[in-house]
Amino acid sequence: MAQGDLDILELSPQELLRDYEGVNACGKSSLAGARWAIADIEHACTAPMVRYGKLPFRETVAQYDTHLVWTPMMLAAEFSRSAPARDSEFSTSKTERGVFALKERHCADPVAEWDDSPEPPRGVHTPPLAKRPRIRGRVIVQFAANDPRCPQKWAYQEGIGCALLRKPQLVHDLVRATKERLGWNFPVSVKIRVDDDRSRTNELVTSAIAAGADFISVHGRTRHQSSEGYPVDPDAIAFAASCAKGAVPIVANGDIFTREEGEELRRKTGVEGVMSARGLLANPALFSGYAQTPVEAVQRFVRSSVSYGLIFPLFHRHVSYMLESRFTQRKDRTYFNSLASYAGVLDWLDQEGLLDPPQVTAISNGVAGI
Ligand SMILES: Cc1cc2nc3c(=O)[nH]c(=O)nc-3n(C[C@H](O)[C@H](O)[C@H](O)COP(=O)(O)O)c2cc1C
Repeated sequence: MAQGDLDILELSPQELLRDYEGVNACGKSSLAGARWAIADIEHACTAPMVRYGKLPFRETVAQYDTHLVWTPMMLAAEFSRSAPARDSEFSTSKTERGVFALKERHCADPVAEWDDSPEPPRGVHTPPLAKRPRIRGRVIVQFAANDPRCPQKWAYQEGIGCALLRKPQLVHDLVRATKERLGWNFPVSVKIRVDDDRSRTNELVTSAIAAGADFISVHGRTRHQSSEGYPVDPDAIAFAASCAKGAVPIVANGDIFTREEGEELRRKTGVEGVMSARGLLANPALFSGYAQTPVEAVQRFVRSSVSYGLIFPLFHRHVSYMLESRFTQRKDRTYFNSLASYAGVLDWLDQEGLLDPPQVTAISNGVAGI
């Protein structure tokens, strides 16, 4: 560990959510390569995403004020039985988690004392930004068996994902078994969707907490509602959060495409953290306040993908999502989507001026050196 890393706090996700707050402000994220966001930061998370949450993507969003990142969903059975499945589904790096300057939740605002003097108020005060603790972000490994989630048909048929939403006892048993196996200090979280029948939301949340879940993420749509067809329901998230009665932190998810939308969802639901999936696919820097993917984020992603050997179809999809708002004409998007190799995509990025000079040099020498 580097000397400068000694003062970086390593907290569990629930401690992070419970003890620290922040208001997303001043967008820029990194300071002199220190991987340290010099900003007031809201708790922001990438949502779990089948296939898409691989290391290069996690590493990229962690540079832009995303504190908690989820791996792709892994099927526990395959993961435990097959080494190739483990290699393909999960790899990590020492640098994939960002380091952030966060404001302590209970570090009160100045206590107003009656004081006629022109001096600044005395008493408890918020430490200046530079004195704030530096905290490392967290990666959350997503196993299908303990994560009620999106309504993909195959997952439903397997009895996982949304199939668990109406089986609170099974969710309870899964959480409890995980805790008993891995130890009570091992953080376990559950992601749910809301239910039209609020008593079911209540039952699910309370049984997950009773079993030992450390925090709960709530996607504000029911299992019958697609993300494209239905807006997220902040009231339903707020209700799910109220079911927790403050016992564990809650993360709200759905329809966050800008930092402001994240702030609004947090305000409306009163939760500790906010989570984005499609928004971060389109713009990995959204929590840093960027309106569209900055070129440097594309470059970071390209660098990580090449060095970690992300498979081409995933690399291609990611870059296509990130560039979506830059395609001014349909034919440009169609052309980009027709590219069939790393070399083709890199050449295209180079022509568009989206690569940095070392990357351009590396391309002319063959992509391996990027
Ligand atoms: C490509 C993709 C893959 C997803 N995979 C998962 C998953 O593996 N587990 C899960 O709980 N949710 C998954 N979801 C759902 C998201 O985590 C999230 O709940 C949903 O997209 C709503 O958030 P959004 O409005 O920010 O996109 C996925 C969503 C997308 C777009």
